[in-house]
Amino acid sequence: MTLEPKSFQLFPEQASNFAPTVDALYTYMVVVSAFFSLLVAFLIVYFAVKYRKRPGQGIPAPVNDHSIGSMILEITWSVIPLGLSLVMFAWGASIMFHESRPPKDALSIYVTGKRWMWKIQHLEGAREINELHVPVDRDVKLTMTSEDVIHDFFVPAFRTKADVLPGRYTTEWFRPTKVGAYHIFCAEYCGTKHSGMIGTVYVLSAADYDAWLAHGSGEGSLAEQGESLFNQLGCANCHVKDGHGRAPNLYGAFGTKVDLSDGTSVRIDESYIRESVLYPQAKIVAGYDRIMPTFKGLISDEGMLKLIEYIKSLGNENGANAPARNLSMESPDLQKTGTMAVPMSEMKAPAAAKTTSTEKKQ
Ligand code: CUA
Repeated sequence: MTLEPKSFQLFPEQASNFAPTVDALYTYMVVVSAFFSLLVAFLIVYFAVKYRKRPGQGIPAPVNDHSIGSMILEITWSVIPLGLSLVMFAWGASIMFHESRPPKDALSIYVTGKRWMWKIQHLEGAREINELHVPVDRDVKLTMTSEDVIHDFFVPAFRTKADVLPGRYTTEWFRPTKVGAYHIFCAEYCGTKHSGMIGTVYVLSAADYDAWLAHGSGEGSLAEQGESLFNQLGCANCHVKDGHGRAPNLYGAFGTKVDLSDGTSVRIDESYIRESVLYPQAKIVAGYDRIMPTFKGLISDEGMLKLIEYIKSLGNENGANAPARNLSMESPDLQKTGTMAVPMSEMKAPAAAKTTSTEKKQ
């Protein structure tokens, strides 16, 4: 691999589907701001000279006459700037919505931030550190989390970035449009070596990408690794397929809504699985006992991704092995809540388990 990201550029390359639109908006804002800054600066100088005090002239009387003034002028210089700024707002909002909604069939890749490195996990099993290999002209969705503090995954050439937070999953997507190597930066100050938390995205042709994937980790796909972890941790003893186990059936569960013992319901997504593994008492599925022990400290963030992929591979409401669901679209709660911390009240004072119901819902 001889590709190297360019060391210095005034303006990063346009290497994703977002780059041209983001740059167009940026240009518009610069032009509008520059025009008005120059206009105001020019008028300050021009009026200072034109209305300067001349020899022999006294100080004019202050203008107190409110009939002097022009309604048309006032309206014009209010409405035009308002319109120009609303264009920035509407244009910016449309780009933001586009960037925050990954396409459903996007290639899914996991990113874990850690002081001070980026760990990348491909579903096929390949892993990398501070490098991300992606195919050109394909939508790519990153599902990201942090092992410690807040980081931010930023690829300037793609004109996209998103915070990477401990305890929850955020997403970021892009469609690389140009084969090449591009910088990854951490865009959130995260400690001493924040500036060294960098990496490279390699955008490969489809054939090169397949070849690259082929010499993966040799440990099997992420879902397969998740299955062995699932068995190793003893999850399979209670989460039985037929639904008659002591814990809910996980087949076909991902993406569906389940009723909880407190009368509310929750959609089974990445964050719910994570919470249920680390804080099993937080949200109990209606009809089940509070018997699951916590796996906090027993499972790494990478292990969690494996389990999540395994559970996804068991199918969802779209049928077995449907494409990964769009996390940010499906879980509005995830967007609203800050960290995924479980309220202390829920952890300390669990409501009495409802064991009377024999009707078991998954
Ligand atoms: Cu990670 Cu800054």
